[in-house]
Amino acid sequence: MKSMTKEYFRKYHYRDAEAARTYDDRKFGSPSLARYNRSTQKALDRALRLLPDGSRVLDIPCGTGRWTEFVIRKRMEYVGGDISLEMMQVCLEKYAGIRKAFDLVQLDGTALPFPDKTFDAVLSFKFLSLLPQEIRLEVLREFRRVTRRYLIAQSQHLRTFCPWRALKLLFAHVFGIEWRTKKYRTRAELLPQIESVGFRTVARIRIVRSFLDVLWPFDLEYLAVLEVRDENESR
Ligand SMILES: C[S@@+](CC[C@H](N)C(=O)[O-])C[C@H]1O[C@@H](n2cnc3c(N)ncnc32)[C@H](O)[C@@H]1O
Repeated sequence: MKSMTKEYFRKYHYRDAEAARTYDDRKFGSPSLARYNRSTQKALDRALRLLPDGSRVLDIPCGTGRWTEFVIRKRMEYVGGDISLEMMQVCLEKYAGIRKAFDLVQLDGTALPFPDKTFDAVLSFKFLSLLPQEIRLEVLREFRRVTRRYLIAQSQHLRTFCPWRALKLLFAHVFGIEWRTKKYRTRAELLPQIESVGFRTVARIRIVRSFLDVLWPFDLEYLAVLEVRDENESR
């Protein structure tokens, strides 16, 4: 059996009925988490305005169907994919009433079972920062292969400019020391890594949770909206 590495844990943690059943409550149950979810939905709403009605959207990983109903209400075709049947089972139960309006596929993000350019957009929330670097690259290449146009990604590593982070990096650079800057470097690497597989960033939509975030718009998560780069286009 594979050893209990972090990667193993993240991949298999949600393949468990109890972890799946309690997911929504743990992630979106409290007032502040619910507020965060609403703010994220608002940002997604803005991103989806780029797409015409009838667009085909792939959501990986779809988990318990965080965006299933929302995307369908926007008159788009929704396909969700996840490695965990247990998570998707919760989605099926939640949306039993509109079951015929969407498709779910069990899959591994590193090898998507779809032909090239099947979708107009791929959504990916709460996923990329969980993956080790090499696996993330494999997943991103698959996203690039199956989308005709957009990738809309959220991750705790995609954040707006942070003065404190900039100061720390400058300090570490000037004095040649690694002073708790690893986390910041990892964050800074994610967007270039996504772009490196053939995307360019067209928008960063901030996830604004409160008035304070408007006054102090630093170190906020954002949705990265990326468009497929033309094969001949230079970076
Ligand atoms: C934190 S949840 C995010 C779910 C959803 N996107 C959301 O925002 O609520 C992470 C999900 O990734 C799925 N997952 C982990 N590794 C995966 C892989 N290699 N391919 C597809 N899904 C995977 C898990 O089963 C789990 O449902």
